[in-house]
Amino acid sequence: MHNSFSSGSNSLLLTVGNVKASYYKKEILHGVSLELRKGEIASLIGPNGAGKSTLLKVIFGLLKPTEGKVIFQGEDIAGHSPYLNVKQGIGYFIQGGEVFTDLSIAENLELSYYQREKAPFKERKDEVLELFPALKKETTKRAGLLSGGERQMLALGMLLIKRPRLLLLDEPSAGLAPAIVKSLIDSIKEIRDKFSTSILLVKQNIREALRISDRCYLLRAGKIEVEDTPENILENGELEKAFFA
Ligand SMILES: Nc1ncnc2c1ncn2[C@@H]1O[C@H](COP(=O)(O)OP(=O)(O)O)[C@@H](O)[C@H]1O
Ligand SMILES: [Mg+2]
Repeated sequence: MHNSFSSGSNSLLLTVGNVKASYYKKEILHGVSLELRKGEIASLIGPNGAGKSTLLKVIFGLLKPTEGKVIFQGEDIAGHSPYLNVKQGIGYFIQGGEVFTDLSIAENLELSYYQREKAPFKERKDEVLELFPALKKETTKRAGLLSGGERQMLALGMLLIKRPRLLLLDEPSAGLAPAIVKSLIDSIKEIRDKFSTSILLVKQNIREALRISDRCYLLRAGKIEVEDTPENILENGELEKAFFA
């Protein structure tokens, strides 16, 4: 594996070490390792069925690994429940980005608000809406009336209102028009810049994801095949190899 990163362990937020995971008896992840520093955006890319969503489920606690470690803030959380992980500051964006369509924008945010730190709801809400001007305009609008892009933004807002330290984003822009994808990706970068949130971004739209990423992991058939900077990944033809070989 290519590794061009120095490893100062003190700023590490998340370390996934040799994780194996199965559905029933079938092993899907065959020893996956990756790391994420504080305030870093890493993208996890790879063809369909590679195990990207499975890895996020393991980190979030929905699926217990059969082997390996998931170290978050110095503690091994492998096997911890999602509930505990949310409390500890992990946010998980599920592919599709669900919102409650019968509730307004503000109500969706309030429902998701969880006072992990001291800030009151209103303060958090204003902070979140600052990132998404499209939502800020009409906070009493029913979420069911929002466009696909606005819904994804609201779903992201529902995570941010908890001020997570780590965001796991599973294809947050799936199915959106290119211009909306760009604005969503820009918002993700802004989230990192404003709150120093670390972000693990699973993406289909590879170039958009790489544009904002500090590092990139390429997962194929349950194994990390390449770890490199986005620039190198784009230059050395790894993408073509992974997706078209
Ligand atoms: N709940 C499940 N039960 C059994 N097999 C699953 C389940 N979820 C995913 N898989 C299988 O695990 C493999 C990896 O899936 P997934 O992690 O969703 O890949 P990706 O997100 O990279 O497209 C696929 O072969 C998929 O069919
Ligand atoms: Mg997936």
